[in-house]
Amino acid sequence: MRDISLKNGLTAIIREANPEDAPQILRYIEQVSGESEFLSFGPGEFETTVEREREFIESTQNKDNALIILVEFNSEIIGMLNFSGGTRTRTSHRGEFGISVAKKYWELGIATAMLEYLIKWAREHKIAKIDLMVREDNERAIKLYEKFGFKHEGRISRYFKLDRKFYGVIYMGLEL
Ligand SMILES: CC(C)(COP(=O)(O)OP(=O)(O)OC[C@H]1O[C@@H](n2cnc3c(N)ncnc32)[C@H](O)[C@@H]1OP(=O)(O)O)[C@@H](O)C(=O)NCCC(=O)NCCS
Repeated sequence: MRDISLKNGLTAIIREANPEDAPQILRYIEQVSGESEFLSFGPGEFETTVEREREFIESTQNKDNALIILVEFNSEIIGMLNFSGGTRTRTSHRGEFGISVAKKYWELGIATAMLEYLIKWAREHKIAKIDLMVREDNERAIKLYEKFGFKHEGRISRYFKLDRKFYGVIYMGLEL
Protein backbone atom coordinates (compact mmCIF):
# COMPACT_ATOMS: atom_id res chain seq x y z
CA MET A 1 0.00 0.00 0.00
CA ARG A 2 1.32 3.46 -0.82
CA ASP A 3 0.13 7.00 -1.42
CA ILE A 4 -0.12 8.51 -4.90
CA SER A 5 -0.39 12.23 -5.59
CA LEU A 6 -3.17 13.09 -8.02
CA LYS A 7 -3.00 15.94 -10.52
CA ASN A 8 -5.62 17.86 -8.50
CA GLY A 9 -3.26 17.93 -5.50
CA LEU A 10 -5.16 15.28 -3.51
CA THR A 11 -3.67 12.00 -2.33
CA ALA A 12 -5.10 8.55 -3.03
CA ILE A 13 -3.99 5.08 -1.98
CA ILE A 14 -2.83 2.35 -4.37
CA ARG A 15 -2.85 -1.24 -3.11
CA GLU A 16 -3.61 -4.85 -3.99
CA ALA A 17 -7.12 -6.22 -3.38
CA ASN A 18 -8.08 -8.39 -0.37
CA PRO A 19 -11.08 -10.77 -0.19
CA GLU A 20 -12.82 -8.29 2.17
CA ASP A 21 -12.94 -5.81 -0.74
CA ALA A 22 -15.41 -8.02 -2.65
CA PRO A 23 -18.66 -6.12 -1.86
CA GLN A 24 -17.10 -2.73 -2.59
CA ILE A 25 -15.49 -4.01 -5.80
CA LEU A 26 -18.87 -5.22 -7.07
CA ARG A 27 -20.44 -1.82 -6.31
CA TYR A 28 -17.53 -0.12 -8.11
CA ILE A 29 -17.89 -2.37 -11.18
CA GLU A 30 -21.63 -1.66 -11.35
CA GLN A 31 -20.90 2.08 -11.17
CA VAL A 32 -18.24 2.18 -13.91
CA SER A 33 -20.19 -0.15 -16.20
CA GLY A 34 -22.74 2.65 -16.52
CA GLU A 35 -20.13 5.36 -17.08
CA SER A 36 -18.28 4.07 -20.13
CA GLU A 37 -19.22 2.31 -23.35
CA PHE A 38 -15.63 1.14 -23.78
CA LEU A 39 -15.92 -1.71 -21.28
CA SER A 40 -16.93 -5.18 -22.47
CA PHE A 41 -19.94 -5.22 -20.11
CA GLY A 42 -22.83 -2.87 -19.42
CA PRO A 43 -24.83 -2.19 -16.24
CA GLY A 44 -26.13 -5.38 -14.61
CA GLU A 45 -24.05 -7.61 -16.90
CA PHE A 46 -21.11 -8.34 -14.64
CA GLU A 47 -22.82 -11.35 -13.19
CA THR A 48 -21.15 -12.55 -10.05
CA THR A 49 -21.87 -12.80 -6.34
CA VAL A 50 -19.92 -11.39 -3.40
CA GLU A 51 -18.89 -14.95 -2.50
CA ARG A 52 -17.58 -15.71 -5.98
CA GLU A 53 -15.78 -12.38 -6.08
CA ARG A 54 -14.15 -13.20 -2.72
CA GLU A 55 -12.99 -16.54 -4.12
CA PHE A 56 -11.67 -14.86 -7.25
CA ILE A 57 -9.63 -12.38 -5.18
CA GLU A 58 -8.30 -15.21 -3.01
CA SER A 59 -7.29 -17.28 -6.02
CA THR A 60 -5.62 -14.19 -7.54
CA GLN A 61 -3.63 -13.70 -4.32
CA ASN A 62 -2.49 -17.33 -4.49
CA LYS A 63 -1.13 -17.02 -8.04
CA ASP A 64 2.29 -15.72 -9.06
CA ASN A 65 0.98 -14.38 -12.34
CA ALA A 66 -2.23 -12.57 -11.38
CA LEU A 67 -2.89 -9.25 -9.70
CA ILE A 68 -5.77 -6.95 -8.77
CA ILE A 69 -4.79 -3.33 -8.13
CA LEU A 70 -7.16 -0.89 -6.44
CA VAL A 71 -6.99 2.88 -6.04
CA GLU A 72 -8.87 4.25 -3.05
CA PHE A 73 -9.86 7.78 -2.12
CA ASN A 74 -11.80 8.57 1.08
CA SER A 75 -12.21 4.80 1.62
CA GLU A 76 -13.96 4.49 -1.74
CA ILE A 77 -12.64 2.47 -4.71
CA ILE A 78 -12.06 4.83 -7.64
CA GLY A 79 -9.84 2.72 -9.89
CA MET A 80 -9.16 -0.93 -10.60
CA LEU A 81 -6.80 -3.01 -12.74
CA ASN A 82 -7.09 -6.76 -13.09
CA PHE A 83 -4.22 -8.77 -14.64
CA SER A 84 -4.55 -12.52 -15.27
CA GLY A 85 -1.70 -14.67 -16.50
CA GLY A 86 -2.05 -17.83 -18.57
CA THR A 87 -3.06 -20.92 -16.59
CA ARG A 88 -0.84 -23.43 -18.42
CA THR A 89 2.96 -23.76 -18.48
CA ARG A 90 3.23 -22.61 -22.08
CA THR A 91 1.32 -19.36 -21.51
CA SER A 92 1.88 -18.54 -17.84
CA HIS A 93 4.70 -16.08 -18.72
CA ARG A 94 2.15 -13.66 -20.20
CA GLY A 95 -1.23 -12.25 -19.37
CA GLU A 96 -3.93 -9.70 -20.10
CA PHE A 97 -5.40 -6.89 -18.09
CA GLY A 98 -8.47 -4.67 -17.91
CA ILE A 99 -8.44 -1.22 -16.35
CA SER A 100 -11.01 1.39 -15.32
CA VAL A 101 -11.23 4.62 -13.35
CA ALA A 102 -14.44 6.19 -11.98
CA LYS A 103 -15.38 8.98 -14.39
CA LYS A 104 -15.27 11.72 -11.77
CA TYR A 105 -11.56 10.98 -11.35
CA TRP A 106 -10.44 10.76 -14.99
CA GLU A 107 -7.35 12.65 -16.13
CA LEU A 108 -5.77 12.80 -12.67
CA GLY A 109 -3.05 10.23 -13.38
CA ILE A 110 -4.80 7.26 -11.70
CA ALA A 111 -4.55 4.86 -14.65
CA THR A 112 -0.92 5.91 -15.10
CA ALA A 113 -0.18 5.03 -11.46
CA MET A 114 -1.87 1.61 -11.83
CA LEU A 115 0.09 0.81 -15.01
CA GLU A 116 3.36 1.82 -13.36
CA TYR A 117 2.48 -0.54 -10.50
CA LEU A 118 1.57 -3.37 -12.89
CA ILE A 119 4.75 -3.07 -14.97
CA LYS A 120 7.03 -3.00 -11.90
CA TRP A 121 5.19 -5.99 -10.38
CA ALA A 122 5.32 -7.87 -13.73
CA ARG A 123 9.09 -7.42 -13.99
CA GLU A 124 9.51 -8.67 -10.41
CA HIS A 125 7.32 -11.70 -11.19
CA LYS A 126 9.17 -12.58 -14.41
CA ILE A 127 6.20 -11.83 -16.66
CA ALA A 128 7.60 -11.56 -20.20
CA LYS A 129 4.61 -10.02 -21.95
CA ILE A 130 1.58 -7.90 -21.05
CA ASP A 131 -1.30 -7.93 -23.53
CA LEU A 132 -4.55 -6.02 -23.75
CA MET A 133 -7.48 -5.43 -26.03
CA VAL A 134 -8.98 -1.99 -26.57
CA ARG A 135 -11.86 -0.66 -28.67
CA GLU A 136 -10.20 1.03 -31.65
CA ASP A 137 -11.99 4.35 -31.05
CA ASN A 138 -10.92 4.54 -27.38
CA GLU A 139 -8.31 7.22 -28.06
CA ARG A 140 -7.80 8.08 -24.40
CA ALA A 141 -6.89 4.50 -23.46
CA ILE A 142 -4.76 3.92 -26.59
CA LYS A 143 -2.73 7.09 -25.79
CA LEU A 144 -2.25 5.81 -22.25
CA TYR A 145 -0.93 2.42 -23.45
CA GLU A 146 1.31 3.99 -26.10
CA LYS A 147 2.80 6.22 -23.39
CA PHE A 148 4.07 3.04 -21.70
CA GLY A 149 5.46 1.60 -24.94
CA PHE A 150 2.64 -0.85 -25.77
CA LYS A 151 2.74 -1.71 -29.49
CA HIS A 152 -0.25 -2.22 -31.80
CA GLU A 153 -0.22 -5.94 -32.65
CA GLY A 154 -3.43 -6.57 -34.55
CA ARG A 155 -7.08 -5.76 -35.11
CA ILE A 156 -10.29 -7.78 -34.84
CA SER A 157 -13.27 -6.34 -36.66
CA ARG A 158 -16.82 -6.28 -35.25
CA TYR A 159 -15.71 -7.35 -31.77
CA PHE A 160 -18.14 -5.02 -29.98
CA LYS A 161 -21.77 -4.38 -30.88
CA LEU A 162 -23.54 -1.46 -29.25
CA ASP A 163 -26.83 0.06 -30.35
CA ARG A 164 -26.68 -1.98 -33.57
CA LYS A 165 -23.26 -0.59 -34.48
CA PHE A 166 -20.09 -2.69 -34.68
CA TYR A 167 -16.69 -1.65 -33.34
CA GLY A 168 -13.32 -3.27 -33.97
CA VAL A 169 -10.69 -3.81 -31.29
CA ILE A 170 -6.94 -3.52 -31.32
CA TYR A 171 -4.62 -5.91 -29.56
CA MET A 172 -1.69 -4.16 -27.93
CA GLY A 173 1.27 -5.67 -26.13
CA LEU A 174 4.33 -4.78 -24.10
CA GLU A 175 7.35 -7.09 -24.07
CA LEU A 176 9.26 -6.88 -20.79
C1 LIG B 1 -8.90 4.96 -20.01
C2 LIG B 1 -8.88 5.33 -18.53
C3 LIG B 1 -8.57 4.05 -17.74
C4 LIG B 1 -7.80 6.38 -18.29
O1 LIG B 1 -7.75 6.65 -16.91
P1 LIG B 1 -7.20 8.05 -16.32
O2 LIG B 1 -6.93 7.86 -14.88
O3 LIG B 1 -8.12 9.13 -16.73
O4 LIG B 1 -5.80 8.19 -17.10
P2 LIG B 1 -4.59 9.16 -16.72
O5 LIG B 1 -5.08 10.38 -16.03
O6 LIG B 1 -3.54 8.36 -16.03
O7 LIG B 1 -4.10 9.58 -18.16
C5 LIG B 1 -3.29 8.71 -18.85
C6 LIG B 1 -3.01 9.15 -20.27
O8 LIG B 1 -4.20 9.06 -21.05
C7 LIG B 1 -4.09 9.98 -22.12
N1 LIG B 1 -5.23 10.88 -22.04
C8 LIG B 1 -5.85 11.35 -20.95
N2 LIG B 1 -6.86 12.14 -21.31
C9 LIG B 1 -6.90 12.17 -22.64
C10 LIG B 1 -7.73 12.78 -23.61
N3 LIG B 1 -8.75 13.56 -23.23
N4 LIG B 1 -7.48 12.56 -24.91
C11 LIG B 1 -6.44 11.76 -25.29
N5 LIG B 1 -5.62 11.14 -24.41
C12 LIG B 1 -5.85 11.35 -23.11
C13 LIG B 1 -2.80 10.74 -21.94
O9 LIG B 1 -1.78 10.05 -22.65
C14 LIG B 1 -2.58 10.58 -20.44
O10 LIG B 1 -1.23 10.67 -20.07
P3 LIG B 1 -0.59 12.13 -19.72
O11 LIG B 1 -1.54 12.80 -18.79
O12 LIG B 1 0.72 11.76 -19.12
O13 LIG B 1 -0.50 12.82 -21.04
C15 LIG B 1 -10.25 5.93 -18.07
O14 LIG B 1 -10.55 7.00 -18.93
C16 LIG B 1 -11.39 4.95 -18.07
O15 LIG B 1 -11.64 4.27 -17.06
N6 LIG B 1 -12.15 4.85 -19.19
C17 LIG B 1 -13.30 3.99 -19.27
C18 LIG B 1 -12.91 2.51 -19.27
C19 LIG B 1 -11.88 2.23 -20.32
O16 LIG B 1 -11.90 2.74 -21.41
N7 LIG B 1 -10.95 1.31 -19.96
C20 LIG B 1 -9.94 0.86 -20.87
C21 LIG B 1 -10.51 -0.25 -21.65
S1 LIG B 1 -9.26 -0.98 -22.70
